[in-house]
Amino acid sequence: MLKSHTCGELRADHAGQTVTLAGWVNRRRDQGGIIFIDLRDRWGITQVVVDRNVNMQAHDSADRARNEYVIQVTGLVQRRPAGTENNDLPTGSIDVAAASIRILSAAKTPPFYMNDDARIEQEGLDESVRMKHRYLDLRRQRMTRNLVLRHRAIKFIRDALDSQGFIEVETPILFKTTPEGARDFLVPSRLQPGKFYALPQSPQQLKQLLMVAGVEKYFQIARCFRDEDLRGQRQPEFTQLDMELSFVEREDVMQLNERLMTALVEAVTPEKTILQKPFPRMLYKDAMELYGCDKPDIRYDLRAIDISELAGKSGFRVFVENVAAGKPVKVIRAPGLAAIDSKTRIKQIAAELEELAKTAGAKGLAWMALPLEEAGEVQGPIGKFFTVEQKLALFEQAGAEPGDMLLFISDKRDIVWAVTDTLRPHLAKQLNLADPNVLAFLWVIDFPMFLWDEENQRWDPSQHLFTMPMPEDIPLLETDPGAARGSQYDMVCNGFEVAGGSIRIYDRALQEKIFPLIGQTMERAKDQFGHILEAFEYGVPPHGGIAWGIDRVVALLAGEPNIREVIAFPKTQTGSDIMAGAPSEAEAKQLAELFVQVVLPEETQA
Ligand code: AMO
Ligand code: AMP
Repeated sequence: MLKSHTCGELRADHAGQTVTLAGWVNRRRDQGGIIFIDLRDRWGITQVVVDRNVNMQAHDSADRARNEYVIQVTGLVQRRPAGTENNDLPTGSIDVAAASIRILSAAKTPPFYMNDDARIEQEGLDESVRMKHRYLDLRRQRMTRNLVLRHRAIKFIRDALDSQGFIEVETPILFKTTPEGARDFLVPSRLQPGKFYALPQSPQQLKQLLMVAGVEKYFQIARCFRDEDLRGQRQPEFTQLDMELSFVEREDVMQLNERLMTALVEAVTPEKTILQKPFPRMLYKDAMELYGCDKPDIRYDLRAIDISELAGKSGFRVFVENVAAGKPVKVIRAPGLAAIDSKTRIKQIAAELEELAKTAGAKGLAWMALPLEEAGEVQGPIGKFFTVEQKLALFEQAGAEPGDMLLFISDKRDIVWAVTDTLRPHLAKQLNLADPNVLAFLWVIDFPMFLWDEENQRWDPSQHLFTMPMPEDIPLLETDPGAARGSQYDMVCNGFEVAGGSIRIYDRALQEKIFPLIGQTMERAKDQFGHILEAFEYGVPPHGGIAWGIDRVVALLAGEPNIREVIAFPKTQTGSDIMAGAPSEAEAKQLAELFVQVVLPEETQA
């Protein structure tokens, strides 16, 4: 080894030992005859002192070294003189007096300095610069910490599942379409001209086939591929903890995963608080009505409360007409949002929120601001349309207090949902309601089996086509598919869907009923899923499972706003790796071997 210790390891009781360290020059301060070097490796930083009067050679090397040079230092560990200790560094009570310094590798002036995270956070760092030099970006303390955290989380999961009798089984990447609602990535076959593999969107079919094979308890840290728009917390390739069990019911899978998640958080990020244990459970329809989405952030309240009955009797024409037409009126209470002196400012805040609501499809956003003093007046455009009694009833229903602002949404149900979902996170930020150290897990259950696809005039599976309907809803498949609930369960945390799964159909006849509902001919279904339908004729254990989005889980644990921060080499918004330049054009010879011809749309042709 070129080093005897790491740069994070040495303490006062190492004083007197001769050690060899190697790493990067994090920072160098030249104080005339003495040069101080902060030497960095993955484990930390150690101060090296180089005194010209003690060692000319070492001083010469230190003199030539610059930030990010890789050097090797041999020297004596010594206690720092009293008063010069650095309490911010774990190694801050010692330094290493260099006896020799060897420059192992020089470094150009880097495009950005990775030695000062605080400064980078403050000044910002262009995403494209970070990604182009990702190997430099990953030298930053924050990134190193994320890589280590990800490793720990995955190791914890592997060990925990192993101890519970699970085995990890790898499944192929070159496979056939395994749809999860995105586009497939295709790989042309050279050996079979004109044919293509599809990269799996998840190991869904394969893990079900492993249940047919008798594996019973399967998991895999699995790479998944989905060609979709990279909005939000998505990457074209991402990692799942994929899991499947035989002879289980919904409750078994949920409890096992809840235990695993809780243990993971406690082991890996004990500083985080889980808001509620056991995780609360919410019906899909309640999630939509109260929070406007199926993955609500419940660290804060900001629920949309239905006041249709009351508002329908008010004097405000829009509400009265909407309620008569079956459109709800809802109110969100923004605590303390109007607890300021200036009426103009309150108006301005409301106007900004109205603009935001309009981006989600709202026609307007009526509001009331409750005064701070008892004698004050309710401010806002619609107060005059409510009698004093109606206002009191409204405040009671909304739980309103002095200084609160009430925001009213009324429209078609799906627009009310969209507006609620847009306003809540915005208000939470504005009012600082979401504690970053709290993890608010919950389960969302009783999803509809299908959602109506207006564009293609057919039902779409709300999870995937292997989900078992709730047993009591099976007859609805024939009469009212839209009302049938699936056995799906989603684990949600702080506004993200972190995991999703279901109990599966294990009966060929029932599986075959699903295809026509989602607009698939039996012929095409057999072509795509014949293998699984056939397998279902050879003795199938009832089974179910789940998959976690590992990138999302680690991002939450790390407190990172984007999953890119916890993936070593992520893709950018346009699906590119700008460091390596992927995707890139293929050579004519490669394409010919694959029997592939590239036909570009006109606008992209040179
Ligand atoms: P699902 O499609 O819900 O279920 O995926 C499971 C979890 O994977 C994460 N996820 C993603 N993370 C990053 N980038 C993406 N593009 C992306 N897409 C999904 C989410 C999600 O909760 N086979 C089923 C699981 C099952 O039924 O067992 C499946 O893949 O956190
Ligand atoms: P108007 O009567 O058009 O001046 O609107 C009075 C207030 O009601 C304004 O603050 C509008 O933003 C608001 N408003 C109008 N339509 C709606 C609606 N559908 N839902 C909620 N608020 C609305």
